[in-house]
Amino acid sequence: MSVLDRIGKKLLFSVDPETAHGLSIAALKCGVPVAARPPRDTRLNVDICGMSFPNPLGMAAGYDKNAEVPDGLLSLGFGFAEVGTITPLAQPGNPKPRIFRLEQDDAVINRLGFNNEGHDAAKARLIARKSRPGIVGVNIGANRDSTDRVGDYEKGVTCFAPLASYLTVNISSPNTPGLLGMQAREQLSELLSRVMAARAAASTQPPVFLKIGPDLSEAEMQDIAAEVLEQRLDGVIVSNTTTTRPPLHSRANGEPGGLSGTPLFERSTAVLARMRKFLGPQCAIIGLGGVNSAETALEKIRAGADLVQLYTGMIYAGPSLPGQILNGMVRILDKEGVASIDKLRDSRLDHWAGKQI
Ligand code: FNR
Repeated sequence: MSVLDRIGKKLLFSVDPETAHGLSIAALKCGVPVAARPPRDTRLNVDICGMSFPNPLGMAAGYDKNAEVPDGLLSLGFGFAEVGTITPLAQPGNPKPRIFRLEQDDAVINRLGFNNEGHDAAKARLIARKSRPGIVGVNIGANRDSTDRVGDYEKGVTCFAPLASYLTVNISSPNTPGLLGMQAREQLSELLSRVMAARAAASTQPPVFLKIGPDLSEAEMQDIAAEVLEQRLDGVIVSNTTTTRPPLHSRANGEPGGLSGTPLFERSTAVLARMRKFLGPQCAIIGLGGVNSAETALEKIRAGADLVQLYTGMIYAGPSLPGQILNGMVRILDKEGVASIDKLRDSRLDHWAGKQI
């Protein structure tokens, strides 16, 4: 970690996590100096779903919930940025405190509950940046008090299809009561068919991904894969946070909410590999959960991912992390004599798919 990052971390860790998050967004709006220059190396390019990613590393949803800084994130070196989750109406989310750092575990527990400014605010910001380059995905959700949750996703598709490089249907936040139930086959079938119909009716048709949780049974994973294939979605994002609690050492380990970071790595990677097996080689998969280094990012690709995202890793390592990871990837490609990063995909699929979770 550079001296600059170390000072930044000290400052941010001296205030509560949500204030720190706000400060980091403000810093990105001004332009953050980063120590590690992200490399431009064509071996990192990934072409999937009609999109050309300059590199496979993206910022996950949840950091830029209101589409305030997608271009700031891209300037750190990320190959793509996902904004959201955005719900039709603005909502405050759960009472504070609702984000907890688990420093000894390189982890975070959050129970934010989709706090966001709603469709209109994000839409205005995305319209303002529309002519800029860079892949920006939009992650859509449902309002907590909605009487028609599927309708909320349809509204998200209609609102953001003309502005998003891709759309993510997020039904895997553990912090909106009942949302995880939408992963069950019957509900999922209705949701996805209405989402795909809304996309077909939109003026442009971006790829649609489904973001799933890591706490599914094998049968549930199989059902989801079958629906994704039947409804011809473009891909899945694996995974959101876990409500399980592997052994943790930090004081906040008992807080309710979704756990992210290093303790999620193994479970989310095992689910990713199983989903690759169930979906076959064609469907796109974005892997995330506990990525904080070139090695962990490449392991997701070896387990079956086309692309990788992170969030919690950056809370601990700072804004130089994407550059560090990409430089590390290039070094590994050099060392292993690999012509392009996609050649590594699936090379440890069986290992991860066979892991007990
Ligand atoms: C998240 N995550 C998340 N995911 C999502 O689809 N919509 C969201 O609004 C949020 N919000 C959110 C807030 C906070 C504070 C955290 C830590 C996480 C989940 C995130 O995108 C990712 O799936 C998990 O955090 C796992 O990846 P990491 O953090 O281990 O790299």
